[in-house]
Amino acid sequence: MCGIIGVVGSSDTLATLLEGLARLEYRGYDSAGVALVRPGETWRARAAEGTESVRALRKECEFAPTGFASGIGHTRWATHGAPVTMNAHPHLDCSGHVAIIHNGIIENHTELQEQLESRGHVFTSRTDSEVLAHLIEESRAKGLDLTESVRQSLLVVRGAFAVAAMDANEADVIVAARRVSPLIIGTAPGVTYLASDVPAILDRATSFYAVNDDEIVRLAPEGFRAIDLDGAPVRLHQLTIDWDLETAQKAGHDDFMTKEINEQPDAIRSTLLDRRRRDGTITFDELRISDEELRDVQRVVIVAAGTSNHAAQIAKYAIERWARLSAEVDISSEYRYRDPVVEIGTLVIGVSQSGETIDTIQAIREARRRGARVVAVSNIVDSSLARESDAVIYTRAGLEVSVASTKAFVAQVAALELLALRLAQLRETIPASDIDALFQGLNAVADQVTTALERRASVEDVAKQLLGARDFFFLGRHVGFPTALEGALKLKELSYLHAEGYPAGELKHGPLALIEPGVIVVAVATDPALHEKMLSNLAEVKARGATVVVVATDDDESIDALADYVLRVPATEPLFTPMVDIVPLQLFAYTMARGLGRNVDRPRNLAKTVTVE
Ligand code: M6R
Repeated sequence: MCGIIGVVGSSDTLATLLEGLARLEYRGYDSAGVALVRPGETWRARAAEGTESVRALRKECEFAPTGFASGIGHTRWATHGAPVTMNAHPHLDCSGHVAIIHNGIIENHTELQEQLESRGHVFTSRTDSEVLAHLIEESRAKGLDLTESVRQSLLVVRGAFAVAAMDANEADVIVAARRVSPLIIGTAPGVTYLASDVPAILDRATSFYAVNDDEIVRLAPEGFRAIDLDGAPVRLHQLTIDWDLETAQKAGHDDFMTKEINEQPDAIRSTLLDRRRRDGTITFDELRISDEELRDVQRVVIVAAGTSNHAAQIAKYAIERWARLSAEVDISSEYRYRDPVVEIGTLVIGVSQSGETIDTIQAIREARRRGARVVAVSNIVDSSLARESDAVIYTRAGLEVSVASTKAFVAQVAALELLALRLAQLRETIPASDIDALFQGLNAVADQVTTALERRASVEDVAKQLLGARDFFFLGRHVGFPTALEGALKLKELSYLHAEGYPAGELKHGPLALIEPGVIVVAVATDPALHEKMLSNLAEVKARGATVVVVATDDDESIDALADYVLRVPATEPLFTPMVDIVPLQLFAYTMARGLGRNVDRPRNLAKTVTVE
């Protein structure tokens, strides 16, 4: 997830870009850069200093030449290529005249780069984005104008993008386009803007327009013209913006948590993008570990804390089921102090959104000391966890601001399940046709999550009716169990209510003594194979006076007789259900917390990243 901005026709281009980038830092801050054009000249500055990137860029621009009426700027959340200056946007073509910025992922960048290099193009970064500059360069060389050059280039790229391009030989226009990644256009008299998000240009533009997928916009000082990928004119929808700056950074939502809950379909899609070759091989570009080594793995141990640990517990089921490998999950803070056994062939996976959780870092250090190969699963490129591991898989959930983790969880489950499929593929433990079907199924989950999100109002209704409750048990079986743990964690950390997650079958071994009228039991009951057993467990709690809330699939009528409230979700392959089932549980916890007047983005006593033991 990156932030982009552009302006044409301005008398203070550079200030507009730098101010906008500062407001877009929440989208990513691995590096930042700007490019300015005037006839015959392109000027560029970039900096890669982590959280200080925009400030460092400002310094780089102190002695920038003046008189540029057009410019583009970018703040980067690294996906392909390390967060270093060389990979910072804008990227230039071979002539240095064309400059582009890009948010998204170009899936077929490897093959495009090979083709471009064979035609003599020289690449100066390790990003997927740079191909766009060279593709545009080729069309410009054929005499096409910038708009047509961008259109032609987009016809050959696959993936997601919000892109903006400039050329010093057509200095009074910027051409921008969108597929999947957000893009808006702003206008003011004599000046036209583009941005990934409204806050970047909120105090500069007076009218705002949304660009839809596969639309290309030509921005000039006097206004803009939009076309579709076939070149036919289109009208952009004008947005009503009545937000202040803070609200705008939350994209119109009341808080970051709501924004991040709503971003879950995109988090899953981005994490899965570009992960399979044409021959069906599942691939992780950033995984620096050979197929032979992965094939030789005998046992998997996953270490993680909090929500990441729940994602890890779900992965255990997938690794065992598909790859037929013994897998266990440990709490990071326990692993290093219990004298763990690391046999030859043990693969340790450290899972952490931030990649900075000290318990998880210490755990993987211990594992490496004992000879394990370690793979990190991290949301932050070049995090400590990623750097200290032998290999890394990045989830691409985008910056998560709210302390309660939501979109990082679904992205972790998607990434880990994809790794489980890769292990199965290498070990040939399930037929290729099943892997194909599972891969397709995994790619369909984002839409199912969207459907679950659309049912927000019915979850809110249920939560509001239970606002006075104080004790909650979350039950599940199979992957419904870690989902229940995650639902309980969300409720306790956000609302400060007592909530326990349990395997449903374990209740009768003790905790059932706590069930009495007034206690709320929230059950995850979407696995058809274990459904009857779950119904029996629910009958047990119901008989003791509990109020029963059930997460159930759309077609499940048998649940109605037992449940006081049903939270419906679309059905999916059992191992994918946690990504869908967690949505009503997140919304339930959120509504309870708001109802109790809690600060959902910053719950008491907690920190987003825990860097002390
Ligand atoms: O950055 P990490 O994934 O390593 O963080 C681990 C936990 O601290 C984190 O998941 C925590 O449990 C969240 N507040 C849960 O919402």
